[in-house]
Amino acid sequence: KAEKLELINKRIRAFPDFPVKGILFRDICPILKDPKALTAVIDLFEEHVRQTCPQIELIVGLDARGFLFGPLLAQRLGIGFVLVRKKGKLPGPTVSVSYALEYGKAEAEIQEDAVSPGQKVLIVDDLLATGGTLGAACDLMKKQQAEVVGCLVVIEMTELKGVERLKPYPVFSLVHF
Ligand code: PRP
Repeated sequence: KAEKLELINKRIRAFPDFPVKGILFRDICPILKDPKALTAVIDLFEEHVRQTCPQIELIVGLDARGFLFGPLLAQRLGIGFVLVRKKGKLPGPTVSVSYALEYGKAEAEIQEDAVSPGQKVLIVDDLLATGGTLGAACDLMKKQQAEVVGCLVVIEMTELKGVERLKPYPVFSLVHF
């Protein structure tokens, strides 16, 4: 496990002042370029799910980088994947919530029939900062009466206290900055 974490750590780059001044952007693109590192991420996510919440029924991925990890995990677990998108991208009847970001404001949206009441879901994204984005996804799930069993991220920005914001939903993260 330590080896896998090291592999992942090595493949995260930092860019200062992106997308706006004062933000140190953590870039996961090198993970995707390295199949061993990508496999390590999905291995550790899978292990966590099998040990802590094997009853999970659906993976929910967040726009945009949650789409890179979520479907791989869902496929491993043999369950489905649905998308939470920025507003205006999904066809058909949708449900949306607005939320504040570390930099800016946004609206998150799902298709009305994406989740069913009582369904046990896990939400996946690349990174947890303030928790605004994952929080919005949790709100959407609540609106649709799905049960959020937890959130999974590759990177957690500890100082921004996203974990506290997401309470009572548990967060599992691989790398902390
Ligand atoms: C980043 C990141 C998370 C979110 C975390 O996405 O991928 O989704 O910010 O921040 P928060 O915890 O403070 O909400 P970004 O806003 O860059 O959007 P993108 O994925 O469309 O690039």
